[in-house]
Amino acid sequence: MLKLENIMAGYGHITALKDISLEVPQGSIVSLIGANGAGKTTTMKTIMGLVKPTSGRVLFEGQDITGHKTHNIVHGGISLVPEGRQILQDMSVYENLEMGAYTRKDKEIDADIKKVFKRFPILDERSYQLGGTLSGGQQQMLAIGRALMARPKLLLLDEPSMGLAPLVVNEIFETIKEISADGTTVLLVEQNVRQALKIADYAYVLETGKMVLSGTADEVRHNPRVMEAYLGGRVE
Ligand SMILES: Nc1ncnc2c1ncn2[C@@H]1O[C@H](COP(=O)(O)OP(=O)(O)O)[C@@H](O)[C@H]1O
Ligand SMILES: [Mg+2]
Repeated sequence: MLKLENIMAGYGHITALKDISLEVPQGSIVSLIGANGAGKTTTMKTIMGLVKPTSGRVLFEGQDITGHKTHNIVHGGISLVPEGRQILQDMSVYENLEMGAYTRKDKEIDADIKKVFKRFPILDERSYQLGGTLSGGQQQMLAIGRALMARPKLLLLDEPSMGLAPLVVNEIFETIKEISADGTTVLLVEQNVRQALKIADYAYVLETGKMVLSGTADEVRHNPRVMEAYLGGRVE
């Protein structure tokens, strides 16, 4: 469904991605793992057209979308749950969800907001509250709900578990599994490697801008290098 081919990208003189290739098959959950500064967010931004690669291609459903405008990419079926959630603090939950549908013109937006409320009943209860008054976990649910409002075929999640309490983290991972089971393909960036590899089908490991390893999630989590660097020396 998604293919990155030999992507080089960065910021000014900084090259953040050095010849990155990856594939996300339709219906799968693919996890991208790596330490701080490895280039995970830059990879997401490149897919969304927020960072323009200096070389390489981004293909979505066989079409070259490299460097396309972000709203066109969203309209085409990819949406991003950004790192740090980035919900609108001074707007209500309901308005935040409406914002997620900004590329749509159809009449089913209200119906889709109801679907988000069904998935996250707490957002229904708080629909008139300002985004900034929600807890971290609720803000993450809102960020996911907002991304779903674009009706993505492919959902990108950038560190959805960051800063959340363990029970809330479990809930977020359960939600990601449900979204996947409902037919949305998922590319998941995580520093919570243990949990990410549990729900993923395939995984890629990024180190300082280079893809150093890839395989099925099982292969990757049994890799000695991954065990040592990300799993504290043991798989379970
Ligand atoms: N806006 C920016 N301007 C300059 N350098 C940046 C910017 N964003 C990220 N970088 C650099 O690019 C590299 C990759 O960053 P990033 O993609 O955010 O990594 P990750 O998400 O894996 O933590 C890092 O060296 C980081 O300092
Ligand atoms: Mg990041």
